[in-house]
Amino acid sequence: MIPVAEPFLGEKELEYVTDCVKSGWISSMGKYVNLFEGGFSKYCNSKHGVAVSNGTVALHLALAALGIGKGDEVIIPDLTFVATANAVAYTGAKPVMADIDKETWCIDTEKIKDKLTKKTKAIIPVHLYGHPCDMDPIMELADGREIKVIEDAAEAHGAEYKGKKVGSIGHIGCFSFYGNKIITTGEGGICLTDDEKLAERMRFLKDHGMSKEKRYWYDEIAYNYRMTNIQAALGVAQLEKIDKIVEAKRKNAQIYNSLLKGLKDIVLPAEKEWAKNVYWMYSILVDNRDELIKKLEKNGIDSRPFFYPIHQLPMYKLDGQFPVSNEVSIKGINLPSSPTLAREQIEHIVKVIISS
Ligand SMILES: Cc1ncc(COP(=O)(O)O)c(C=O)c1O
Repeated sequence: MIPVAEPFLGEKELEYVTDCVKSGWISSMGKYVNLFEGGFSKYCNSKHGVAVSNGTVALHLALAALGIGKGDEVIIPDLTFVATANAVAYTGAKPVMADIDKETWCIDTEKIKDKLTKKTKAIIPVHLYGHPCDMDPIMELADGREIKVIEDAAEAHGAEYKGKKVGSIGHIGCFSFYGNKIITTGEGGICLTDDEKLAERMRFLKDHGMSKEKRYWYDEIAYNYRMTNIQAALGVAQLEKIDKIVEAKRKNAQIYNSLLKGLKDIVLPAEKEWAKNVYWMYSILVDNRDELIKKLEKNGIDSRPFFYPIHQLPMYKLDGQFPVSNEVSIKGINLPSSPTLAREQIEHIVKVIISS
């Protein structure tokens, strides 16, 4: 079976993890956490990095640090992984979905405008499947309205918007390092920010909110969202090859694009002139998506359907029109996207797609 994604691990990962085991530093203290926070924030050109245990809690921590809670509304795209909505719900705030752009499949700024109310406290643009959102109009909307922007960059390490790395543009940028992500720490996440006070607040909240002056003294209910040294050790090794991974994904996308170009009834992934798409998942839209998934499976090729629109999920049922996310969700399929994919494998996958 050709997998949809597999981690790109090697000797360095083994060496650094072994170092943790041999030294006994296996929990959240140890040199790798700092190294990873410093290395990843530098890679994204952001001042501070706060490593956490996964991407979902990264989003929750960002919202909690911004003081978002009951009575507040947070605008999110209707097409995203459920964690974006859940993180908002954990705070007691209401996730308010906005439809997506039909080319980038990311949140549509015009649709955000329709959803703004006095209760709107934050917007979470999601750089879906590796393509950045159009950030300037979103930041403009937020500026002057006291609305914060949290980028959900879980799927877009290394992607760029007008030359800037995603995750460094909003007030906070959140990433996931789950095993299928561009770089992985097994499970893991990080919050990036240029705002020192916000970084401090996130560090405080992720570690139970313990008083700096008095050990084991707490003034508020906080969390244990710490990343372990072992996770961070994997991350440090992965960071050493992130450019190679991103390059391989972009090269594979070019091969897919060249073989699928011009075929009737297949919509290829976009790369807007202001964007560097990292093609976390090389994805296309087709009319017969579910049949195609079965056909690929019969031929030893794994794939995934796109996410369901959030407004269709029972917890988040919302009246309103979401024509673009409805259509993209039904037609969308993620094809094998590992950086290790060989040209011959892509040729085989495309042959199966175009065979009737
Ligand atoms: C868009 C998006 N947001 C958030 C998450 C949550 O990350 P994690 O699985 O590390 O909790 C994911 C990933 O899996 C994701 O794809």
